[in-house]
Amino acid sequence: MKAVVYNKFGLPDVLELKEVAQPAPKANEVLIKIHAVSINDWDWGLLRGKSFINRMFYGLLKPKTDKILGSDIAGTVEAVGRNVKDFKPGDDVFGDLCANGWGGFAEYVCAPEKVLVLKPSDMSFEQAAAIPQAAVLALQAVRDLRPSQSGLKVLINGAGGGSGSFAVQIAKVFGDEVTGVDSANKFELLRSLGADHVIDYTQENFPDNGKQYDLIIDMMGYHSIFDYKRSLSPKGRYVMVGGGSSLMFQSLFLAPLLSLIGSKKLGILPHDPNKGLDYLKELFQAGKLTPVIDRCYPLSEVAEAMQYFGERKSKGKVIITVD
Ligand SMILES: NC(=O)c1ccc[n+]([C@@H]2O[C@H](COP(=O)([O-])OP(=O)(O)OC[C@H]3O[C@@H](n4cnc5c(N)ncnc54)[C@H](OP(=O)(O)O)[C@@H]3O)[C@@H](O)[C@H]2O)c1
Repeated sequence: MKAVVYNKFGLPDVLELKEVAQPAPKANEVLIKIHAVSINDWDWGLLRGKSFINRMFYGLLKPKTDKILGSDIAGTVEAVGRNVKDFKPGDDVFGDLCANGWGGFAEYVCAPEKVLVLKPSDMSFEQAAAIPQAAVLALQAVRDLRPSQSGLKVLINGAGGGSGSFAVQIAKVFGDEVTGVDSANKFELLRSLGADHVIDYTQENFPDNGKQYDLIIDMMGYHSIFDYKRSLSPKGRYVMVGGGSSLMFQSLFLAPLLSLIGSKKLGILPHDPNKGLDYLKELFQAGKLTPVIDRCYPLSEVAEAMQYFGERKSKGKVIITVD
């Protein structure tokens, strides 16, 4: 089968379209013919070898094996292992393989049945591939870590990106008043998704605006943890989803201590891949959640797609189609 492989960290030109052996499903796995796969910020980090944590898990000096990136896949079940109960050949499925070896930039991949859900017929493969990681992160931040039930003042930092664009929509489902922070070229998109207020991070440092929020969701955090604490309402919560390593360090080690003083809570999102995918499907089918797709590239142009993603020009998700 064809797959896009890399064996050293670097810019997208280290990605190579090659013939590799087609995987065979183990007893609890299904073999999926991939139709679409989306790019996430994590793919970019693994390609570049950025962040010490990524290197600890995926290879200190180079990727541990010839690696195939791409975790958010949508496709059709081609074959099933002998213990698989929930799927059969011909089923259309989608899911996030970030905890199961990745491998989405390819014609076929194997995945344990527990990480997959059935794709509804009114959802395209491109839409299905856009959802798993980005929307699950957004759901877990907005729904699972909210300080109280509804009607919160929510600020989403990096609201116009892959995950932020889902977070805005999910917060609106919960009746929240949403402030989206991103660059001004995303304002139209943010308003169309339901954002009540928008802030251009290149013009305004929101922690200095004197406003306080009940829930701050940080997709791309570069402020200090003290800035976030100041911007929280008395019982507010700060959730770091992604951002710089200095903030990561502060969120891991300082935030738990700061959370002990007073009633504001700060910390990192404990990402649980695929948890909540069925609920996201329901929101999609109810017309309350629409994946924002910026553009699609064929498998032969994964390097171009990654380049475009890395230039940070996309609004919403960048998709690879495989046919
Ligand atoms: N916690 C976990 O376990 C976990 C797991 C997977 C992923 N993640 C993280 O989750 C995050 C999800 O990101 P994504 O896929 O939505 O990324 P994305 O698609 O790249 O979107 C990021 C958005 O943030 C904006 N932005 C950049 N710098 C900013 C700043 N200083 N202030 C405010 N906005 C800024 C970008 O706009 P521009 O166009 O201006 O650049 C872009 O619209 C990533 O940070 C990823 O590393 C976390």
